[in-house]
Parts: sequence; structure tokens; C-alpha cells
Amino acid sequence: QSPEVGRLLEAHELSAKLYHFLLKNTEHGKEAMDYLRSRGINDKMIDQFQIGYAPNRWDTLVQFLEKRGFDLGEMEKGGLLSARQEGSGYVDRFRDRVMFPIANRNGQVIAFAGRIMGEGQPKYLNSPESRLFNKSRTLYNLNLAKTSIRKLRQSVLFEGYGDVISAWEAGVQNGVASMGTSLTENHALMLKGICDEVIICYDGDSAGQAAAMKSLPILEQAGLHVKIAVISGGLDPDDFIRRHGSDRFVHGVIESAVSPVKFKLIYLKKNHILLEEDGRISYSREALKIIAPLASPTEREVYLRELASEVKVDYETLKQECNLMRQSMLKKQQVGDNNDNSWNNGRHKKVRVPAPNLLPA
Ligand code: UTP
Ligand code: MN
Ligand code: MN
Ligand code: MN
Ligand code: MN
Repeated sequence: QSPEVGRLLEAHELSAKLYHFLLKNTEHGKEAMDYLRSRGINDKMIDQFQIGYAPNRWDTLVQFLEKRGFDLGEMEKGGLLSARQEGSGYVDRFRDRVMFPIANRNGQVIAFAGRIMGEGQPKYLNSPESRLFNKSRTLYNLNLAKTSIRKLRQSVLFEGYGDVISAWEAGVQNGVASMGTSLTENHALMLKGICDEVIICYDGDSAGQAAAMKSLPILEQAGLHVKIAVISGGLDPDDFIRRHGSDRFVHGVIESAVSPVKFKLIYLKKNHILLEEDGRISYSREALKIIAPLASPTEREVYLRELASEVKVDYETLKQECNLMRQSMLKKQQVGDNNDNSWNNGRHKKVRVPAPNLLPA
């Protein structure tokens, strides 16, 4: 570890303590405290996640760091300060924001996310990438969640800070977030190192569901077993917990997470208008592409029967079309070797469920 990295780590740790202190103990922090309370964040959560407040001034951190002998230019490169637009010198990067420290997996603070109270852009101001902070290698809350993740061999992947914090309070302590940035192969490998299964629990809006479709193959490619927790009504996990409570979140959302196949079918259905013939036809065509490669005939039948009633087509007709598609996929080797060939007693060529992301579009 270079001396510069050491100094930046120290500055981040001290800044997190300062913001946390200002939130809890000063007049400046009162409004932020009210804001957090209105969002259902209690004192215990504020301590647990070391939440803080950056006052509405230009030089809170500048003064604080200068007094302790830090080089302000170095602090600017580390993302704590900004260079003045005009003239020389530095100003605080974070002003009048609720501060969420972001730690590495060892619990060292390496960045901040500052939320504006109320409306405004950006909603979250994040630290820039720095010697300490590489977004594609950082998962929010991994430091606290890793014990539970290892024990359960499972983690829950959220979109946002608030989701992780509320879920923790609801008893889901294996939650992490990739912080708005898209999930990377690195993130997936970090999780693969400590668990076998990931439950994707993104926001229930269309952006969240589209993001889940994108994260799914990345996690599967890392060798993780994946399930998807779907939240109805466009709520995010944080909103859902506040509205419906912890029990319904744990049982109705997390424990009810569905398989990737089921999720893809749900997602597909949302994007087709089943009241129209065209919609039903294109929906069944796309759905068959998901169902046809499934190795288990039982699994195929279950989904086909469901599909039959949704698109108002006879089951036998769909089955026929499914088998035709399956034959052509087998020929093109889009359906490869199967580990589990018990269903055909090994009499036929082995058939494998391909990674869903390898399916033709
Ligand atoms: P969301 O827009 O879903 O925000 O973005 P949220 O987490 O629900 O925020 P609240 O509840 O309104 O406070 C999900 C995540 O994307 C990142 C953050 O990590 C956020 O938690 N994001 C979002 C940013 O980094 N910057 C932004 O301006 C917005
Ligand atoms: Mn504390
Ligand atoms: Mn969102
Ligand atoms: Mn959200
Ligand atoms: Mn939210």
C-alpha cells in the first residue's frame, strides 16, 4: 500500500466520522435527521451504516482536513474536495447532502454517496473513481454482509443504498448493491468467491426489470445459481418494506424468488399485448425459444401448459411447435450436452440446458 493510499484511507475514515458526528450532534444535522426519520431510518441504522450529513457550506471538510495536515490537492484527487471553478484552492465536494460511506470488503471507507434531501440533480452524488475507489470492484455493504453471505452461501443483489439498508433492518443481512452502475463480471466473481447463489432483487419498475435481465447472464457466467425476486407495483425494495413490512418482504419477495426461466417468461409477457392476436403470436414464439431448450420434459410441459392458456392456443399445437424448434436447436447444437440425462435413461444423445444467454435472440 502506497503512502498516498494510506493518507486517503485515513482522510476518508476521519471524514466519515465527521459527517456522522455532524448529523447526530449538531444543529446543522437536524434537517437531515428529520429527512432520515421520514424515510424510516432509525438511530440504530444510522450507526450501523455510519450515515452522516455534509453541511451546506463550502469549507467544512477543507478546514477539517487542512487542520490535520492533509494535502488538499491529494484530497481533491481522492474525491473528497473539488478544485475551485475560478481562481485556485479547493471547496467541499459534498454539500448539504446525507452521506453514505462506501467501504471496501475490509470495512475501510473508500468513497461516499451523498443524497440530496428532496428533489434535485443528481439525486446521489458519488465519489469519482480514485486510487481507492473502483466502482466495478466495489459492492456496497459487502463488508457487513460477507459473514451472512458465507454462512448462507447466498447473497441478495439490490440496486440502491436504501434497499440494502432497509433489507438489513428487515432481517436480510446478506444484501449488497452495485450502486446504480451496471453489474460487472468482477462483481459476479467477488460474489462467486463467497457464495453459490444470488437473488437479484432490483426495483419493480421497468428499468429495474430490464437491469435484472442484463445482470442475469453475468452472474450465471460466473457459475452462480441465480433467482430473481420480482416486486409488483413498480416499488423498489425499500418502498416495499416501508409499505408492506418485513414479513411480506422476506416471505413474499425474497423467499418467493423465481427461476431465470420463469422470470424471462414474466418479463416477456410484460412486453407483449396479449389482448391482440399479433401480441399473442409473437409472445408465444419468443416464449418457445425459452422453453424449447429446457432439458426436462416435465419442466417444458409445465411452462407449455401455462403458455397455452395465456395465448389461448391448444396445448398439443404448442407442444408440436416446441418440439420442432427443439429439433432444430439440437441440430444446430444450440442445445448441448446435459449433466442430468436421467430423464432419457442415457439412451439418447445427451442434452444439456444451455446457458440461457447463449440462446438465439
Ligand atoms: P434509484 O433511482 O432506484 O434510487 O437508483 P434509490 O436507491 O431508490 O434512491 P432513493 O430511495 O430515492 O433515495 C438506484 C441506485 O442508483 C444509484 C444509487 O446507487 C442508487 O441507490 N444512483 C441513482 C446514483 O448513483 N446516482 C443517481 O443520481 C441516482
Ligand atoms: Mn456511530
Ligand atoms: Mn431504480
Ligand atoms: Mn430505487
Ligand atoms: Mn428507493
